[in-house]
Amino acid sequence: MPVQPEEKRMYMQAIQIIGAGSAEPARVVTNDDLANIMDTSDDWIFPRTGIHSRRFCAEDETAGTLAHRAAEAAIRDAGIKKEDLDLILVASMSSDYAAPTIAATLQKTLGLREIPALDINAACSGFIYGLEVARGLLMASRKRYALVVGSEQLSRLLSMEDRNTAVLFGDGAGACIVELLPEDAGIENGTKPLYEALLGSRGSDVILAPGCYGTTPVDHMLMDGKEVFLFAVKTIPEVLEALLEKSGLALEDLDYVVCHQANARIIRNVVRKLHAREEQFFMNMETYGNTSGASIPMALAEMKQKNLLKHGAKLALIGFGAGLTYGGALLTVR
Ligand code: UT7
Repeated sequence: MPVQPEEKRMYMQAIQIIGAGSAEPARVVTNDDLANIMDTSDDWIFPRTGIHSRRFCAEDETAGTLAHRAAEAAIRDAGIKKEDLDLILVASMSSDYAAPTIAATLQKTLGLREIPALDINAACSGFIYGLEVARGLLMASRKRYALVVGSEQLSRLLSMEDRNTAVLFGDGAGACIVELLPEDAGIENGTKPLYEALLGSRGSDVILAPGCYGTTPVDHMLMDGKEVFLFAVKTIPEVLEALLEKSGLALEDLDYVVCHQANARIIRNVVRKLHAREEQFFMNMETYGNTSGASIPMALAEMKQKNLLKHGAKLALIGFGAGLTYGGALLTVR
């Protein structure tokens, strides 16, 4: 992923994350619980994935209701008034309905002004895409605050008769309040805020999830695990290195790298490749499984709650997944 000279010269108007919140569904489903209903075991799942349990939605929970709870928590954490929000974006591949979107419903249930509201689907890279879409729309409309949510009810897309995918995924939601910083921020005193981003896609159906249409009939999530594994361990270091090159920073300058929480073995492989410290790579898939577009904002909310993110912490966020899509961002947390 070579960085073009003109990309290095281009000035990126920065966003920063000023608040984060999450919503965990009520039902805890352990590997042992799954072993009671399918031919699998904790001994198979945990060493290959780092996952011990995941959350599944209870009857009255959906990607939409989780998104609402996570958004409220993020607004509280940011300390802004909800009336200050200028944009709602929800990344999801398991939206309650094709229409209305979760984002449009949030406008109503959160009691917000009639601001733009949009769902996007870039699967497990969705939250990173959401950050860039939010930045672009805030810049275009000269506005300041966006609510960016990742919310998933993947349990709806799984078949408990397919152990290849049923053991990997979970439900959950994470939300961030994103602030577009002024164009001239830091120019006077030479402290330009950190922001770089990179998005991409490589069309492939190695992960396939049901929708309304399609020439391949599919009734639950299908995945070629080995192909995805190879894609992830190649793409994450490439994205991270390209972002670092654009920013002029070294990996050691970052406080944390937060990858999409698909699988601990993928992240450990990346750590080895980069000769990095494992502690720098946050992981929480042990208790949530792979929550696709929700995993990165859920991780950020947990990190904030645990006081891991000091004011101005520098983060790399890296998503990858179905599409195949990938995306990364370097930014700071207020
Ligand atoms: O958001 C992106 C999400 N995608 C990922 O994170 C996937 C990345 N891929 C992986 O992490 C790994 O490929 C898996 C964890 C999904 C699978 O691990 P693997 O070492 O590649 O296993 P495999 O698919 O080669 O299967 C090995 C064996 C097979 O049995 P045989 O043919 O060797 O007899 C499978 O049938 O394990 C069997 N198997 C299972 N056994 C118990 C597959 N799933 C299970 C299961 N429990 N859940």
